Amino acid sequence: MVDTKTQYQKIKPAIDKAVVDVMESAAFINGKAVHDFAANLSAYIGTKHTVHCANGTDALQIAMMALGLQPGDEVITPSFTYIATTEVIALLRLTPVFVEVDAKTFCMDPAMLEEAITPQTKAIVPVHLYGQSAPMEEIMKIAKKYNLYVIEDNAQTIGCDYIFADDTRRKTGTIGNIGTVSFYPSKNLGAFGDGGAIFTDDDELADKMRMITNHGQSKQYYHDIVGCNSRLDSMQAAILDIKLKYLNEYAAARRNAANYYDKAFANHPKIIIPFRASYSSHVFNQYTLILKETNNPSNYRNGLRKFLADHKIPSMIYYPVPGHRQKMFEHFNAVTQSMPITDWLSDRVISLPMHTELDEEQLLFITNKVLEYVNK
Ligand SMILES: Cc1ncc(COP(=O)(O)O)c(C=O)c1O
Repeated sequence: MVDTKTQYQKIKPAIDKAVVDVMESAAFINGKAVHDFAANLSAYIGTKHTVHCANGTDALQIAMMALGLQPGDEVITPSFTYIATTEVIALLRLTPVFVEVDAKTFCMDPAMLEEAITPQTKAIVPVHLYGQSAPMEEIMKIAKKYNLYVIEDNAQTIGCDYIFADDTRRKTGTIGNIGTVSFYPSKNLGAFGDGGAIFTDDDELADKMRMITNHGQSKQYYHDIVGCNSRLDSMQAAILDIKLKYLNEYAAARRNAANYYDKAFANHPKIIIPFRASYSSHVFNQYTLILKETNNPSNYRNGLRKFLADHKIPSMIYYPVPGHRQKMFEHFNAVTQSMPITDWLSDRVISLPMHTELDEEQLLFITNKVLEYVNK
């Protein structure tokens, strides 16, 4: 699905030097590289604070801990997302409340969001899925009306611009109270291991989140609040700092590949290509098609997956089992909810290889094989 090896080869001297520099400094934890990267990322994203942490899942957990959410508080989030988004809500003994997504954008539907709000609702976690922003202006309006916190799960969408009605732009992850990101290797800004970060403009929240990532410590060996141990190590930070310089170029390469796919599949009676919302740029962490097949759609979709695999083309289903159907949430009322759009998508989506190194020969081969299957 990704080709991080070729991507690394192109910037190998700079990466190798950065790693050696960290080894020679021996500042493996919380070294200069970590602080340099956090400062550069803040400038790129347009946020006052970047709090580094160990991965995108911890980033969400730390954000929810810092907001002081209490057991029983309801947190509204899409069911159609990676399990990390919803799992941390339950881990903190909060109540996940699933809402539907828009079938076109794959992101939280604001109308459904408003319907799901109760007196127990404390926060909303919109997910910018596959590389495109959720409709943040509408979500923020609802959050303001009901006095709710907003944590943007920006794991898949770093570098994406949200375009406001007045044409101003902000990076996703900087619009709500807090934004989170993952540096998992296949992400648009991918480390050579795990990593994550949290964004906020709020000084108090930033201080609290920094404390939480370091065992709730206010000064050495004085622990004021319950925290955890979650940090980005210096080597990953040094690598990410190099890759950050290429992030826009990487997004452009992903968009080029998406344009190629779009052209090949546009107007095909069996394929819906990714919708591009006017309020967002698209950084294509994933290129996800919806297959139109009324007769046993998941079988048909899984058949394409197998057909591609037989020709050594990887593909993925993000996500075959949405949150409201996961066993881990069985004890929440939310799972009894009917989610026809989410279920409809789960049976029909398929993601094709998407990364910065796809060349025309590969794209031609992949698109021809997809077309061969759907034209059968
Ligand atoms: C939407 C979403 N949220 C959260 C995460 C968690 O990130 P990590 O794997 O770094 O913990 C991911 C990672 O795949 C994700 O896609």
